[in-house]
Amino acid sequence: MGKIGAPPVNKRKPEAEVDRLLLDRWSPRAFDPTPIPEKVVKSLFEAARWSPSCFNEQPWLFMYAVTPEDRALYLDLLVDQNKVWAANAPLLAFLFAHKRFAHNNRENFWNRFDCGAAWMSFSIQARLHGLYTHGMAGFHKERVCAALGVPEGDYEPVCAIAAGRYGDRDALPEKVKENESPNGRKPLARVALEGKYRTF
Ligand SMILES: Cc1cc2nc3c(=O)[nH]c(=O)nc-3n(C[C@H](O)[C@H](O)[C@H](O)COP(=O)(O)O)c2cc1C
Repeated sequence: MGKIGAPPVNKRKPEAEVDRLLLDRWSPRAFDPTPIPEKVVKSLFEAARWSPSCFNEQPWLFMYAVTPEDRALYLDLLVDQNKVWAANAPLLAFLFAHKRFAHNNRENFWNRFDCGAAWMSFSIQARLHGLYTHGMAGFHKERVCAALGVPEGDYEPVCAIAAGRYGDRDALPEKVKENESPNGRKPLARVALEGKYRTF
């Protein structure tokens, strides 16, 4: 079992009223390897299951690893920069998007958008259980389907995910530790424009 530490102080300052839960969702790298109880694992995917999607297609497919054997298999698919810290996460997952609509077999242009919604529900439910998540684009995309037996013609890998309790920040490599705190955001006025587009 790792050393469970207190997460760093969260200095995020919202510009408008927002629930604390959303500010406290951030992507740490110090994970505690203590296994997540099975019913909590189920709860995370259940939260994702109720996400909205175009035509209620539910294009998401979460493949996950909690046993040492599966975690080793999944970890091997990550790039080295992610491996160094994700190795401690008790749950690793890959999120796949189904490429076509079931009702007409046409390309589903919104599949990744819907997967993003599902991932966010997963992440917020994780916070409600006191867990953290960390999405990762850094994985070997060309190897994931074959390694996990996912039909490549039907699915595309969208994101890798690490989840678990907050762990030991001091055990992180020095370079990784430097960025181990909740980060900031662009100003609200830059990301939400009323009326017509304008430049700054
Ligand atoms: C799709 C996606 C891919 C990401 N890829 C990586 C990654 O490969 N490695 C990593 O350390 N963080 C990765 N991140 C984490 C982002 O850097 C992080 O979400 C962003 O800086 C905002 O910080 P926050 O999540 O702590 O609020 C990724 C996040 C997302 C949503």
